[in-house]
Formats: sequence, C-alpha cells, structure tokens
Amino acid sequence: MSVQVFETKEVQDLLKAATNLNGDNGNARFQQIAHRLLSDLFKAIDDLDITPDEVWAGVNYLNKLGQDGEAALLAAGLGLEKYLDIRMDAADKQVGLDGGTPRTIEGPLYVEGAPLRDGVSRIDINPDPDAGPLVIHGTLSDLDGKPIAGAVVECWHANSKGFYSHFDPTGAQTEFNLRGAVRTGPDGRYEFRTLMPVGYGCPPHGSTQQLLNTLGRHGNRPAHVHFFVTSDNHRKLTTQFNIEGDPLIWDDFAYATREELIPHVVEKTGGEALGLKEDAYKDIEFNVTLTPLLQGQDNQIVNRLRVAVAA
Ligand code: DHB
Ligand code: FE
Repeated sequence: MSVQVFETKEVQDLLKAATNLNGDNGNARFQQIAHRLLSDLFKAIDDLDITPDEVWAGVNYLNKLGQDGEAALLAAGLGLEKYLDIRMDAADKQVGLDGGTPRTIEGPLYVEGAPLRDGVSRIDINPDPDAGPLVIHGTLSDLDGKPIAGAVVECWHANSKGFYSHFDPTGAQTEFNLRGAVRTGPDGRYEFRTLMPVGYGCPPHGSTQQLLNTLGRHGNRPAHVHFFVTSDNHRKLTTQFNIEGDPLIWDDFAYATREELIPHVVEKTGGEALGLKEDAYKDIEFNVTLTPLLQGQDNQIVNRLRVAVAA
C-alpha cells in the first residue's frame, strides 16, 4: 500500500486545526513551529509509507525516553546540539566575528552552583584510586590578547569510570566532585587541580543507547573537560577540550571534537608541592580567547533546563 494524502485539503486542514495555526489563542511562534514539524512528520509518513506499527513504536519510544530522562542526551547523540553550534558558527561568520576559542556543545550534565574560588581551585573531593592527578590551567584573553580579569571559568568532567557527580549511578561521588568555578585575577589566569577523566558512555540500558544500537552506532565520548567562561563585557563561551591521545577523539557520539580543542598533555613533576596526590602529574594548558559582545548583546547565552544545587 502506498498512498499519497499529504497534499489533500483534508490533511492540510487537519494540520492547521491540530496546531491552531493563525488561531486567536495560543502562542503564534509555537503554532508556527508545531505546524511545520507536524507537517514534516506527516509528509515523511506519506513519502516513506511509514506503517502504523512504526508510528506507534516511535510514540512508545518517546514515552520511554521521557521516563529515562534522556531527551537531552539523545539531542547530543543525534547531532542536534552540534547542529545548533554549526548555526552559531555560521551566524558569527556572517557578521564577520572571527577568532576566539571555538564553541562546542554543553551536553546535558552541567550542575550550577559549584563553589567559586579566586584563581585556583582543587576540585577532586572524592578519592579515585584509578585516576592520576591533572592540572588544567590557562590565561583568558580578549581578541587583542589582553588578559581578562574578573571572569568566571567553570569546568566539569567525569571521573575514572566516566561518571559525572550528581549523575553518578554508583553513588560514589558527592555533590560538585570534579566541578569547579574560578574567578580570574588581573593576569587573567585560572587553574583547576583535579584528576584525569575517562570517556563517557551512554547508560547501556537507556533509551538513547537503544536508539543508537538500532542505528548501528556506539554511544561513547572521548575523555573531555567542559567549560563555561563568563565575563561581563564578552560573550559567554561554552566549550570543551578532549584529552589528547584518546582513541575516540574523532569518533565522538556527540560530535563535539574540534581540531583547536585538543591541547597537549604534558608530564610534569612537583605535584606534591601543589597538594596533588602524587608528585608526577599531567598538565594541560588551555588558553581561552573570548569574543566581544555584539552591539552590546551576548547572543551566545543559551537558556535550557539545568540542574542547580546550592553549594
Ligand atoms: C553527553 C554526555 C556528555 O558527557 C557530554 O559532554 C555531552 C553529551 C550525552 O550523553 O549526550
Ligand atoms: Fe561530558
């Protein structure tokens, strides 16, 4: 059976009625988006002759996705979050905004409220015998190379099992383990003393992994560290770097890797003097360049539901 009913008056009227398009009540922007998305779905059902069984499998999947709380995870895994970055990159290019540390996806695992310290923060609170010490540091500067004082650098990353505090299914981590916030001084410098993360994998029995399995894809990320960098007179930067040498760097299920975001990992000694758990440690210098506001506005602020915890 292959029928084409999408263009009929009956279906077009149904789409308009279902979304109350141009109706007196409701939100006009939402009506416009809902009408377009529903139309695209109806058209795909027609074009691909998607069966009722397939439609109901999809509807049931959405229920499970919500029950698992994994919609934002799936958005990263399906490249939707990357697509938003591609669009923001293109918008910057269009207005001639060049330079600055590249953005990359936030992911779904940020927690607001990490304790804010001046210049340096030790952020490994819970012991992790399988993780070696890591120092992450750098200088924040503007496009002219001038250090930015009074900015806030936040970072968050996984432990040696690939789990993030607050979202750790083993319960091994307390709130804000491996999450920190540092305010830069006049030299623009920040530093986090922490432990080496490993890559993240989607919950193996969750609905994101289920969908990826059906696509024949894995759900793993290379080891990485997330950043928010916020400064009054610059645009907020959302980015990450990957840990050099991770075999998944160019095979990230969330498509966050960028050439400029793979800083060198340097072996150093002197960790004991810094209060690290071992004298030999890994050091990553990650300097960050922020971009100016556009006509006084920060067009990089993204509002989304985020976990917030009182420190
Ligand atoms: C996902 C997990 C991450 O750690 C991340 O940085 C981005 C996305 C995810 O599971 O979708
Ligand atoms: Fe992550």
